[in-house]
Formats: sequence, structure tokens, C-alpha cells
Amino acid sequence: PKITYIESNGKTHEIEVKTGNSVMEGAIKHNIPGIDADCGGACACATCHVYVDAEWFDKTGGPSVMEESMLDFAQDVEPTSRLSCQIRVTEALDGLIVRLPESQH
Ligand code: FES
Repeated sequence: PKITYIESNGKTHEIEVKTGNSVMEGAIKHNIPGIDADCGGACACATCHVYVDAEWFDKTGGPSVMEESMLDFAQDVEPTSRLSCQIRVTEALDGLIVRLPESQH
């Protein structure tokens, strides 16, 4: 599935990410700046914060309770904020668009 990552400066990366990988892993593997992922995907650092495009938010399933509480530690949280290590890539997410927050740049 193709995922589009948009950096805070507007630079856009359209990447083919493997099914089963997280949106965070897709970014790290392709060296996309703006996702730090300090904890390596354990939902324990909030440095993989992204803004999911509003049209896609429902399709990603929304954050779990654990993710919600970790999001409290992210900066500039918005209604469509997610931790990208907690979004699994599936065929249904082909075309997903996420924006990367300025604070992680
Ligand atoms: Fe740490 Fe996502 S990588 S919370």
C-alpha cells in the first residue's frame, strides 16, 4: 500500500510500505525526517506523532486507550493525532495521508 507522508515544510514523500509494517516503520525505513520513534514502536515515547488526514482518520481505527494516554505527552495534539507506530498498514489503508508535526523536525 502507498502511504503519503507530508513533512511540516510541505515536502511530500509517497512511499510503498509493506502490509503489516506500522506507518512509523515505513517512515524510518525510508529515512523520512519528522518521525523519531525513540522507543522503537512500543507506544512509550510519543515521538512518532503524526496527524492523520481527516478523511482517513476513521479508517485507521482510532487510538487505543494506551495510545490516547501516551498522546498526552505529544506536542500540539490535534483531533486526528495518532502515534504512527500504532497504525498497522493494510490494503485498506492504500492512499493514506499523514502529516508530520513541526516539533519532531
Ligand atoms: Fe514510540 Fe511510537 S515509536 S510511541
